[in-house]
Amino acid sequence: RAGWPGLINAYRDRIEIPRLSDGSDAEIVTLHEGGTPLVHAKRLSAATGCEVHVKVEGANPTGSFKDRGMTVAMTYALASGLKAVICASTGNTSASAAAYAAKAGLTAAVLVPSGKIAMGKLAQAVMHGAKILQIDGNFDDCLELASKTAAEYPVTLVNSVNPVRLVGQQTAAWEVADVLGRAPDVHCLPVGNAGNITAYWKGYTSYDKGLPKMFGFQAAGAAPLVSGQPVPNPETIATAIRIGSPASWAGAVNARDSSGGLIDAVTDEQILAAYRLLASSEGIFVEPASAASIAGLLKTAEDGRLPKGSTVVCTVTGHGLKDPDTALLGTTEVEPVPVDPGAVAHALELA
Ligand code: F0G
Repeated sequence: RAGWPGLINAYRDRIEIPRLSDGSDAEIVTLHEGGTPLVHAKRLSAATGCEVHVKVEGANPTGSFKDRGMTVAMTYALASGLKAVICASTGNTSASAAAYAAKAGLTAAVLVPSGKIAMGKLAQAVMHGAKILQIDGNFDDCLELASKTAAEYPVTLVNSVNPVRLVGQQTAAWEVADVLGRAPDVHCLPVGNAGNITAYWKGYTSYDKGLPKMFGFQAAGAAPLVSGQPVPNPETIATAIRIGSPASWAGAVNARDSSGGLIDAVTDEQILAAYRLLASSEGIFVEPASAASIAGLLKTAEDGRLPKGSTVVCTVTGHGLKDPDTALLGTTEVEPVPVDPGAVAHALELA
């Protein structure tokens, strides 16, 4: 959005930033994140009997909602005087940390689970000059390692266990309430490490525009919040939320229970169906994990847990270009056509 100053400046009266020793404000590290579109979804509304709006977080500078937390985390990291940041990631946090560290002039180290991160996210971390360490383990192992390293060495942890990350992420709830004029009745989100659902609830409860029921959706192969116990070997095509032991477990449960909402699981098949439907019928291309919110919307509309006539917001967390491999799964060959309008018309069945 032209003229949008980034979320710290947009909500400067509500977000505290560090003071330097001379009393002046710290430098704000921003790529003008936030201010993302809230798009009315006509076909999803018709399919569910609700008014459905999609909060398109792929429109952030690095293509995911992680930038909201990262502008605040990196502003604090730079002010701290340490020269390096570290994070564990299923891909988007590392892409965001790498970009904001480059902007801040800091070094970023990212710990990723080997072989399980989408191509676009890896490309971002490479291009922004992060030190990429592949760990022989899953996200949960990476996070434990990153936390231990940050506890013992001079490097700032920028995962969402760093509380200032969630301060930034709550702005998405404020934006939704500002655009709609009030909170929606229901807010659907994908859930992995559970930082984002925690942040949205914090956002709504700290804002004076009403409270939605929070509906969180995990992938069925990585749904510890649904089963009530950690999943030792999480598996799902939605690699961004392939997490067995969410760091913000208590925050997610609190958001669910305090709001009268729910946390449910959606299968990979439901995720992929929603992923394709959103792209082909609403014009919004997201990565598979993001489509968990849409899959959950459709599931709860069908089984009646989503009240008809509700105003619903579904957050879609990351851009589809993050994971081109999944987009092209099972596609047929692109059709070759000679350089001839008649042949084009024939192929399009116009003649
Ligand atoms: N959607 C996307 C696209 C994500 O990248 C993530 C988390 C989530 C949803 C879930 O959000 O963890 O706050 O519940 N990605 C993290 C990462 C884990 O490393 O990029 P959450």
